Amino acid sequence: MGSVNVSEEYMNIAVLVSGDGSNLQALMDAEEKGGLGSGKIVLVASDNHEAFALERARGKNLETFVLEGSGYRSREDYDRAMARRLHEARIELVVLAGFMRVLSGFFIDEYKDRILNIHPALLPSFKGAHGIKDAYESGVKITGVTVHFVTKELDSGPVILQTGVGIEENDTLDTLEEKIHKEEHRLYPEAVKLFTEGRLRVEGRRVRIRRRDVDGD
Ligand code: GRF
Repeated sequence: MGSVNVSEEYMNIAVLVSGDGSNLQALMDAEEKGGLGSGKIVLVASDNHEAFALERARGKNLETFVLEGSGYRSREDYDRAMARRLHEARIELVVLAGFMRVLSGFFIDEYKDRILNIHPALLPSFKGAHGIKDAYESGVKITGVTVHFVTKELDSGPVILQTGVGIEENDTLDTLEEKIHKEEHRLYPEAVKLFTEGRLRVEGRRVRIRRRDVDGD
């Protein structure tokens, strides 16, 4: 891990966004109902000042931070500036929710095993920026959603949770997108909660999930 300061009462979360922010919305809504465990979203950061996600965050009176990519010579320079801001906010968990930048090795080391991502397909199938469309066009009958830890190899980190979504005869790309997003909004808060409750253990490629009943908690 990098120099992450761990606070005791809450686990400070930053959500990184670039676009619509429907997953951010699901996470904020879950938090209000106690659905993120001790997780508390304290910062929403974006590389795009026009992201609707920022409006959603402001609607909940969350602090927002925009860092546009222009003006940084390299990915690492950008990530150093982002990491600085996250450290200032004492962030302990970084949740990527439609953040369209690839993170540098520097950032990933800085928040080692503390960065989550959601991908709209069943990894390792359909990696990349068009997971839903690629699955739809490939003719597969089942696709889904994956929440995983972020590592240096794109869309390849250890899988935390996955859920399948059937592609039916009458599905269009639009209806499939709707089904995928619905599952994302259920799955992501669940994964964040598992993290904040300390129930996840990474063992190589595998993420072990400690069951509630094992230790009676
Ligand atoms: C989601 O489909 C997510 O899986 C992918 O980017 C999309 C973000 O959507 N990584 P939103 O901005 O949360 O609505």
